[in-house]
Amino acid sequence: MTEGATSVGRSTTQSAELFERARRVLVDGVSSPSRGPLNFRPYPLFMTGGEGGEIVDADGNRYLDLMLGFGALVHGHAHPRLVAALREASDRGALLATASEIEVEVAERLTRMIPGAERIRFANTGTEACMAALRLVRGVTGRPKIVKFEGHYHGWADAVSVGSNPGALDDVDSLGIPETALADTIVLPWNDAGRVEAALAEHAGEIAAIVTEPVMANMGVIPPADGYLAELRRIADEHDVLLWIDETVTGFRLAAGGAQERFGVRADLVTFGKALGAGFPVAALAGPAAVMDALAGGRVLHYGTQNANPTLLAVVRESLDLLTPAAFARLERIAEQLVAGLREAIADVGAAALVQNVGPMLQIFFLAPSSEDIDAIRDARDFSRHVDRERFRAFAHALFDEGVYLSPSAALHSVLATVHTPTDVERVVHGARAALARV
Ligand SMILES: Cc1ncc(COP(=O)(O)O)c(C=O)c1O
Repeated sequence: MTEGATSVGRSTTQSAELFERARRVLVDGVSSPSRGPLNFRPYPLFMTGGEGGEIVDADGNRYLDLMLGFGALVHGHAHPRLVAALREASDRGALLATASEIEVEVAERLTRMIPGAERIRFANTGTEACMAALRLVRGVTGRPKIVKFEGHYHGWADAVSVGSNPGALDDVDSLGIPETALADTIVLPWNDAGRVEAALAEHAGEIAAIVTEPVMANMGVIPPADGYLAELRRIADEHDVLLWIDETVTGFRLAAGGAQERFGVRADLVTFGKALGAGFPVAALAGPAAVMDALAGGRVLHYGTQNANPTLLAVVRESLDLLTPAAFARLERIAEQLVAGLREAIADVGAAALVQNVGPMLQIFFLAPSSEDIDAIRDARDFSRHVDRERFRAFAHALFDEGVYLSPSAALHSVLATVHTPTDVERVVHGARAALARV
């Protein structure tokens, strides 16, 4: 994208001007690094709103939205039923911060949907739910260590901010994290059960939990190897440690019961965010009473003024109603259509690129020149070695010109919403063909 205007004539001058203003008062001109100059060059598109499967920028350009609030907008933008639920609930005020019937009702539904969930605790963001989960697994077991995996992201809390940066997998993710905060975090490669078994044997009696994303979603989309999640379950049982599955991305997206249902695996603790709130900050922890009840009375401390905000839970209740078996089936169908269309477009232009997906989560991996014979990206080291991230960035910016919006970071991924249609998918494939020809 060139300054002010794109190669196909879309003007983005309002975004350029807004970015000039923004960078004077907001760090990086944005409110989270992934939205700013780290990923968008020369400036991010400033968005004003969305409608269904589309997002609209400050110049009035419309884009088919595959970013969808980093996966939170499971029903797209401004779904009329969610808007009506929000309006109706907000007439009664913004917040109670008391016991309320709606939190009981939504929790009852969640226990019916989520395998193994006897108790629910609401929080506000995925990061917060993961921070509470971290304390909970340590509190329940009385042990300090956790096993996490390279390339997995569980929010930005100190103890899990390591091994997530594709350029520096052996490093801490951020300045400002004392070594002591990571002393009990063991980072292992994913999709290698032998390494987990060895670590658990080496640190017998010290490990509280294994935490995993069930599908890697913070290095593109990397599915678990066949039987890998079941192996983690077996190893956790054999070594008497908890298995915490972080479904912040996969929950309410891969199936009604999330990745646990899709892959037939059972966790001791599950964390949710993103799609649970359908665009609003609602997150949750869920699990069997034997684990979750350690939160009772604040024995394992987790507070929150905004927990279980009744106005937002009214939206969640409506959103869960929309997540019917038919909605999941439709999502799967259009995802298959999109993946097939993208693969065909890639083959037609002869690009060295792979498309990986699990249901409606997908990513295109452009392969580095020395890696063109690679047939799959299986873990974070593969991603770091083989993926041409700059090429993906150029592709994403070329797609903006074609009226398709997605994150230009190859480490993130695209998703489809329940409101997207086969015609939308055709539009994306058409745009991708043009963008591929340009990069
Ligand atoms: C797997 C996973 N866990 C936790 C989080 C943190 O969620 P939030 O951004 O709502 O704090 C994310 C965010 O991308 C995530 O992908």
